[in-house]
Amino acid sequence: MNTLEAIKTRRSTRKFKAQPVELEKLQTIVDAGRFGPTGGNAQSNHFFVISDAVVIAKLKELVQAAFAKMELRDDLYKSLKNSIMLSQKGNYSFSYNAPVLIVVANKKDYGNNMADVACAVENMMLAANELDLGSCYINQLKWLNEDPTLLEYLRGFGLREDERVYASVAIGYADTESGLPNRTESPRTGNLVEYL
Ligand SMILES: Cc1cc2nc3c(=O)[nH]c(=O)nc-3n(C[C@H](O)[C@H](O)[C@H](O)COP(=O)(O)O)c2cc1C
Repeated sequence: MNTLEAIKTRRSTRKFKAQPVELEKLQTIVDAGRFGPTGGNAQSNHFFVISDAVVIAKLKELVQAAFAKMELRDDLYKSLKNSIMLSQKGNYSFSYNAPVLIVVANKKDYGNNMADVACAVENMMLAANELDLGSCYINQLKWLNEDPTLLEYLRGFGLREDERVYASVAIGYADTESGLPNRTESPRTGNLVEYL
């Protein structure tokens, strides 16, 4: 698969097989993330590659508890409303039960924190596609990146005092008949372009 093909056929996967992902594939994916560009070559992204089912289940529990406490208001961003609603029903799996979650943190006082993390996440999703794995950008841990309980839990795995989570990515084999991710190109109707 060449780069442009990987870009155009990358689609979000939201249903995963329980099948574990090979360590070599995870190393290739996280390496692709580490090779992303960073502002001023800061290289301050901090990756947590989580394939331990106990840790993923605990994160799911903490995320659900945090959203369940929030007030559901009509003016909230649609996805946030959805997270709160499902959490209050006790039925929320923010990372779609994917067997792997890569959480990416960066320095909280660094202006390019989210940009650097997003570049790494896109690289990782493209690498996952190349390796026949499905992936999905997951924003919930960014929304909750000041939640004291989540912060304390992640600090137990090495999140530093001056770091916060800016994105994560769910990875695994897609739960499709072929086991391959859906690669149907989705047409672009937005993202305007002007040539001058
Ligand atoms: C900044 C950002 C945040 C996103 N957050 C989530 C998320 O929390 N959960 C989710 O299911 N998809 C999330 N997505 C995926 C988008 O919904 C998805 O890319 C978009 O609908 C286009 O579909 P495609 O990825 O199949 O091309 C996010 C994407 C971006 C770029």
